[in-house]
Order: sequence, then C-alpha cells, then structure tokens
Amino acid sequence: MILVTGVSGGLGGLILEGLSAFDGLEVVAGTRAGDGTTARRIDFDAPATLAEGFQGVDVLVFVSAGFAEDDVVLARHGAVADAAAAAGVRHVIYTSLAGSGDFMSIALPHRWTEARLAKGPFDVTILRNGLYTDLPVGLAVMGAGPAADSGVFAAPLGSGRVPVVAKEDLADVAVRIAAETERDLAADHRSRHAGKTYELEGVSAIGGDDIAAILTTALGRPVDYQTVSLSDTRALLAGSGLEPYQIGHTLSLFSNIKAGVLEGHDTDLTTLLAADPRPAREAIAQAVQPVAAAS
Ligand SMILES: NC(=O)c1ccc[n+]([C@@H]2O[C@H](COP(=O)([O-])OP(=O)(O)OC[C@H]3O[C@@H](n4cnc5c(N)ncnc54)[C@H](OP(=O)(O)O)[C@@H]3O)[C@@H](O)[C@H]2O)c1
Repeated sequence: MILVTGVSGGLGGLILEGLSAFDGLEVVAGTRAGDGTTARRIDFDAPATLAEGFQGVDVLVFVSAGFAEDDVVLARHGAVADAAAAAGVRHVIYTSLAGSGDFMSIALPHRWTEARLAKGPFDVTILRNGLYTDLPVGLAVMGAGPAADSGVFAAPLGSGRVPVVAKEDLADVAVRIAAETERDLAADHRSRHAGKTYELEGVSAIGGDDIAAILTTALGRPVDYQTVSLSDTRALLAGSGLEPYQIGHTLSLFSNIKAGVLEGHDTDLTTLLAADPRPAREAIAQAVQPVAAAS
C-alpha cells in the first residue's frame, strides 16, 4: 500500500491523483483533514495520527511540510521518520529541495530530513525538487498591473535566472517512483530507486528580462525589467502580512537568485519524465492573460 501525505496541498494532491489512475495499486490519501473514511488523518504535529495512519503502509510518499519555523519543521519531519520506522514502512520517498538550493535558508530542514531518513530502517528515495514555476508566475501576475501602467517590471532578481519546474512534472516523477517502488516490493525486490537521490531542477531558467519580455507580448507595450534591492524588498515584505520566518526565507531565495547560484546544475528531470517538461514561459504567459485583458 502507498500512502501520500499532504493531499490537500498542490503537490500531494497531484501525486495522489496520478497514483489513483493506476490499475492494481492500493493508494491511500493522508491529510490533516482525514477522518478515516476517504482519507487517513496524517498530522505531523500529532504523532499519534502517524502511528495509526502509517499502519499497513509499504511505501510512504512524504511531502515536506515546510511552512513553519525550522524547529517546528524538524520536529514534524523527525516524527514522520520515527513513526514510519515503528510502523514498518518499507520505503520512504521524500520531496526535498534541489541541490542548487543548498545556500537557501530553507535547505537546512530539507538536508536535516534527508540525513534523518537515511538513519531509518527503511529504504529511501530523495526527490530534490526544483523551485516551482509558481514563483515567476506569481511575480509576473503581481507585476503585470504596474507594468501595464508604467512599462516597468520590477523584481528583486538582479541578473539571476531560476531554473523552475512545473509542480505537475514533479508529481509525475513522484508517481513513477512510487508506482515502480510498490511493484518492486510486491515482487519481493528492493525498489530500483532505493538509496537514490534525484535532482529535479527545471530546464527553463527564468529571469527578470524573460518575465518583462512575456509581459511585453501580453500587454502589447514595451516593458523593461528593473531590479529591486534586497533592502527595499525587505521593507516591502515587512508590510505584506507574511510571517517573520517567511520573510527570512523569501529574502534568502531572492538573495540566491541575485547571486546567480541557482543556474547551471544537472537535472534528472528529463530522464525520469515520460514527456518533455512543461514549458515555464507558456505557463507565465497564460497566467498574465487575465491581467493583460483587464488593462
Ligand atoms: N519547490 C518549491 O518551489 C516549493 C515551494 C513552496 C513549498 N515547497 C515545499 O513543498 C511542499 C509541497 O508543496 P505544495 O505546493 O504542495 O504546498 P501546499 O500546497 O502549501 O501544501 C502543503 C501541504 O503540506 C501539508 N501539511 C502542512 N502542515 C502539515 C502537518 N503539520 N502535517 C501533515 N501535513 C502537513 C498540508 O496538507 P494537508 O492539509 O492535506 O494535511 C498542506 O496542504 C511544501 O509543503 C513545502 O515544504 C516547495
């Protein structure tokens, strides 16, 4: 049996949907909202739900729950590792962060979790997910209105570019790894993915100039990219309603993009996907259409 955690979230939901389409696979949904009927209650902050919820699970697709302070995330992820070991889970697939993100502040809980899982009695596959296409999509959508008025797209990216990946592509990879693992276990083999760490960075690198070019086409007027300093970004984020830890992580992300350290890394994405990766530029262009139409 495969259990997927975080199924009300974007990635967990797509993984569950993909696995549910397979014939002959027993797949169970895990969510904090589970009541034991259509989904099991899986709350990393409530270890008793894990002890019960992981019963009978062979393959655990462990979607990170990273929206909290580091000490909270470490406690959550440690509880998952403990409960998976106690319940006799045979294989854990963890959605981590791409190696290029090593300097980002969110890398710490991911690398800690990878190391913690490696000490477990189960086999492990690490899916080091790249940054989602949601990032440039969000920046483009936020910037489209001001760009329509001023002809300027402003963002704290410097001349850096981010190799982004569609959540759907990451889900497709997770589905493949989980399904193949379950089949290998059913045939009494270790998973062919046991002990593997896959880098799943995107193949489309997007920077400020790229977003400005997409906005130029969408808005039908020239749009220039202008970078924003980190200190101005910090001031802007302070009034945004984000939690303080989110401000720290967001600045760290922009700092890494500006430093240009996210680009130019190898990826296993194309090898593991059955089709070409979904193009980021098209997703951005599509997302800004409603704003362009209204301006
Ligand atoms: N690569 C990237 O660019 C990127 C960007 C943002 C986040 N992430 C990481 O990737 C993860 C998945 O991304 P996503 O887009 O699916 O995020 P999402 O839509 O925000 O979903 C995250 C899910 O995590 C689950 N969760 C939160 N707290 C939990 C807890 N205490 N116990 C159990 N589950 C908990 C929730 O699922 P239920 O409500 O069903 O329990 C939540 O819906 C995030 O949680 C974050 O760690 C990656």
